Amino acid sequence: MSFWIFLILSLNILCDAQMQEHYLISMVDESESFETFFQDGRMIMKKYKPTWESLDSRPLPQWYDDAKFGIFIHWGVFSVPSFGSEWFWNNWKDEKDIKYHDFMEKNYPPNFTYQEFAKDFTAEFFNATQWSELFEASGAKYVVLTSKHHEGYTLWPSKYSFSWNSVDVGPHRNLIGELANAIRKETNLKFGLYHSLYEWYNPLYLHDKENNFTTDIFATQKTIPELHELIDLFKPEVIWSDGDWEPTDSYWKSKEFLAWLYNDSPIKDTVVVNDRWGMNIPCNHGDFYTCTDRYNPGVLQAHKWENCMTIDRKSWGYRRNAVLNDYLTLKELVKELIVSVSCGGNLLMNVGPTKDGIIAPIFEERLRGMGKWLALNGEAIYNSKPWSTQNDTLNGDVWYTQSKNRQKLYANVLSWPIDNILQLGSIMLSHNYKVFLLGHDEELVWKQESNSVKISLPANHHRGQPAWVLRINFSQ
Ligand SMILES: *[C@@H]1O[C@H](CO)[C@@H](O)[C@H](O)[C@H]1NC(C)=O
Ligand SMILES: *[C@@H]1O[C@H](CO)[C@@H](O)[C@H](O)[C@H]1NC(C)=O
Ligand SMILES: *[C@@H]1O[C@H](CO)[C@@H](O)[C@H](O)[C@H]1NC(C)=O
Ligand SMILES: *[C@@H]1O[C@H](CO)[C@@H](O)[C@H](O)[C@H]1NC(C)=O
Repeated sequence: MSFWIFLILSLNILCDAQMQEHYLISMVDESESFETFFQDGRMIMKKYKPTWESLDSRPLPQWYDDAKFGIFIHWGVFSVPSFGSEWFWNNWKDEKDIKYHDFMEKNYPPNFTYQEFAKDFTAEFFNATQWSELFEASGAKYVVLTSKHHEGYTLWPSKYSFSWNSVDVGPHRNLIGELANAIRKETNLKFGLYHSLYEWYNPLYLHDKENNFTTDIFATQKTIPELHELIDLFKPEVIWSDGDWEPTDSYWKSKEFLAWLYNDSPIKDTVVVNDRWGMNIPCNHGDFYTCTDRYNPGVLQAHKWENCMTIDRKSWGYRRNAVLNDYLTLKELVKELIVSVSCGGNLLMNVGPTKDGIIAPIFEERLRGMGKWLALNGEAIYNSKPWSTQNDTLNGDVWYTQSKNRQKLYANVLSWPIDNILQLGSIMLSHNYKVFLLGHDEELVWKQESNSVKISLPANHHRGQPAWVLRINFSQ
């Protein structure tokens, strides 16, 4: 591994009951990553240090790379006006767009406040069991729910958000608790939480901001304790951080928080976090990178990443006045998944439930459609890894993935060739290779030419499918 360039020996007494009164020697490797603890000459633990170098050395928990597909849920007080987007409050107050001002003037009494929307966040049809069944049917392997968006309203009874949470005002229910329990009881999905570090109008945050973040009352007395509370109560296996960009990671105490998360939290072995932990951190640090919303680079990435996008092209929160054309089609969604996975990413696909707790049939239709496609073609997606080539050199509508043991190559076909002959330039087939179309029993006939292979597809197989998968068996 690495040389011990610099050692600090110190004596600590562990509070842990089992180890009480044993002297512990800890060594800090200044060159890079860990603080390593020895007891009676044996290494007993390695601890991450609150530096990005150390935190970045943590191996990605395997479940996340294998999962490939998750569902994102944006739900909160913004689901009440359900107009514009989940940024409603900010767009209205900062008058970024006159349409919010007009909407309020026309539909609400003068001086109506954003807080007054909360009592109409009723969730009377919210059935966590039903949601869980739907998410499982979508083929997703994890869900990520907004525990708190930039408005500050918490979907659990947080003691750090007195009277601005889902038990004190609105549904009078612990929405996170209900969904976490149902997901864990009814499905094998992992349960994750989105959390906004900042809050647009929290006076403590505005105070720190006014001081150019030379004070950190909000971060130390609101954000960090709240994150600990969330973990303590719900043990989320994804922490999807956001709202990070105004101050630095030092202001947020992100590195210290993550070191605790990785070393000592109850979810230290399985939790994954994204990259939104302070100014300039996204796309540079974290278990997986999200970079920007809807990030889908189309080329292989060196670090694990996630394409977070939303079925409604214009909003993450529910919009009552969305039209059919605003929703991505199933074909477009399957394409997002295939291209992302081919390039080493996961897809986190968002739905916005209504204020009364319904996932509208248009979202349901898309989710079940994904599940149906994955039920047949999932072997090209789940547990797969990127191949040496992503999209085919002759046919850019074909994207490759491979099985972990490299025995099977998958060609994910986004458009069916008119003459039913698929011509590929990135693969060279030997006589003993076999080519199958998933869902079709017979082996396909193919012909290797000098610069391409021509594969005869079964003519009637393509109707109604959003995409097709060819499996090429390398062995026998
Ligand atoms: C709205 O607030 C303004 C400023 O506080 C006040 O002058 C006005 O009377 C209020 N209007 C109503 C209808 O309460
Ligand atoms: C919630 O949905 C499940 C599954 O559809 C159903 O069995 C159950 O009765 C529902 N619960 C309530 C309170 O409606
Ligand atoms: C914050 O920074 C601005 C611009 O550099 C400066 O004008 C202002 O005085 C600073 N405020 C405080 C409280 O430090
Ligand atoms: C493959 O994808 C890349 C990036 O999305 C694109 O620039 C390139 O043109 C594609 N190749 C073909 C053959 O279409």
